[in-house]
Amino acid sequence: MDKKWWHNSVVYQVYPRSFCDTNGDGIGDIPGIISKLDYLQNLGIEIIWLSPVYQSPMDDNGYDISDYQAIAPEFGTMEDMDKLIAEARKRNIQIVMDLVVNHTSDEHPWFVEARKSKDNIYRDFYIWRKPKEDGSEPSQLGSAFGGSAWQYDEITGEYYFHLFSKKQPDLNWENKKVRKAVYKMMNWWLDKGIGGFRMDVIELIGKVIDEGIMSNGPKLHDYLKEMHQETLASRDVLTVGETWGVTPEIAKKYSNPEEKELSMVFQFEHITLCWDAKHGKWKPRPFDFVSLKKIFNKWQTELEGKGWNSLFWNNHDLPRAVSKYGNTQQYRVESAKMLATALHMMQGTPYIYQGEEIGMTNVRFESINQYQDIETLNFYKEKIAEGFTHEEMMNALWENSRDNARTPMHWDATENGGFSKGKPWLGMNPNYDSINVKAAIEDKNSIFYHYKKLIELRKSMPVITYGDFKLLLKEHPQIFAYMRTYEDERILVATNFSKDKAKFMLNEAVEVEDFRVLLSNYDKAYALVSELELEPYEAVVFGI
Ligand code: NOJ
Repeated sequence: MDKKWWHNSVVYQVYPRSFCDTNGDGIGDIPGIISKLDYLQNLGIEIIWLSPVYQSPMDDNGYDISDYQAIAPEFGTMEDMDKLIAEARKRNIQIVMDLVVNHTSDEHPWFVEARKSKDNIYRDFYIWRKPKEDGSEPSQLGSAFGGSAWQYDEITGEYYFHLFSKKQPDLNWENKKVRKAVYKMMNWWLDKGIGGFRMDVIELIGKVIDEGIMSNGPKLHDYLKEMHQETLASRDVLTVGETWGVTPEIAKKYSNPEEKELSMVFQFEHITLCWDAKHGKWKPRPFDFVSLKKIFNKWQTELEGKGWNSLFWNNHDLPRAVSKYGNTQQYRVESAKMLATALHMMQGTPYIYQGEEIGMTNVRFESINQYQDIETLNFYKEKIAEGFTHEEMMNALWENSRDNARTPMHWDATENGGFSKGKPWLGMNPNYDSINVKAAIEDKNSIFYHYKKLIELRKSMPVITYGDFKLLLKEHPQIFAYMRTYEDERILVATNFSKDKAKFMLNEAVEVEDFRVLLSNYDKAYALVSELELEPYEAVVFGI
């Protein structure tokens, strides 16, 4: 496979609202991001995935866009945005924008026009259906944020379709004019010099509503090929699709360079593994470690040479990695480093979500009123109506509310963690007094420096980027271990996902004459590679 610049780069996701506020309105802004570029360069990342900063009524914190070519005033101006792109580039960092084109805001001029009359020229930009004879919704389809996916619109007496909130009407991708308008907007941004796009719920654009097909519709890949042709073909950028229903087979369609679609996709099997079949994230299942390993093994081996993986533990929709898979009590630092090691040494492009590099944790708001996220608030009501108790729901929120990831970034131990001089839009996690960037920078054993070393290692050893993947000790209940091989380079990664010691015995014949410790999260000497006693949450990378 041809080598690409983003194969050995690490991405850092910025959720602008919660990153750094410079004007005291309690909301992070673009000048705030610019002020932290040196910090990000020091960490070693080369790409920022910027969650939406476009003009928006903020029903879903910017994933409801009312003007794709304007910046939301709370985040700054287009000048700020141009400056961010330029300042990032000076530091060898590319800005990857969030492309949200499954839907717009209902305040987007296209929708404002579309709802005016049935013969408006923008009517077909969206999806409209007549009511059933009794006036009810055209079908039973539900929205991802609860309730029906249909919203009745008085003006023309029809329903429009929205897979997310009713302020996020879905675009009609079957309409060529919609596709053209989207490609034009994409080119406008690409011409500004951005480094690519993260494509929000992109698997939904090929939906066939009347047949109830939402993900992976029949025309999805045709649209992506057309998009590639019209926008990406002549440019060297990174594109990553958000695809919850993807299988390795489909991922190869998206990410095999020969298919000319995307660079890679996010798959979520390791996330939904902990969700209930009926109630999803609102009824979390215990973490099944052996299945997690199987999932990683499947994705690592199936995409090898035929596609490209993205590697992530968390993002702005998911709980904090260390809270979900690690240990926030005695072993927060060890387990955060272990999780980073286990992930970053696999094949693919790693993604770090803001605050992950200092081991930020989930938040425990005591009152439902402290939550801001639309999904959290809608489902709190819906599940209580279905019979969940308040306590059950609060437990579910502490584990899986999207606000866990969205509490503002901790820069130092001063008021509001140095995030804002005003009142933060969402409450702070009170542990900012001890978990913060300043403390991490001052401590040479911090999680931050472990991430920095992982990135340096990736840059210096092609095996980390291109090596093949072999899972070891498949059924071991505590240890995730694997070998990577590329030309004459070989590494062995051994990680302990538990708070108990774990015996690591290589049962397969691996010739190890001499070895080097490339990275470890414990200060200890290693005598042998084939037989180790791993400490709680230990992670070690050997060059062998
Ligand atoms: C996925 C985004 O990551 C999420 O934050 C958003 O609410 C939905 N798509 C709708 O755009």
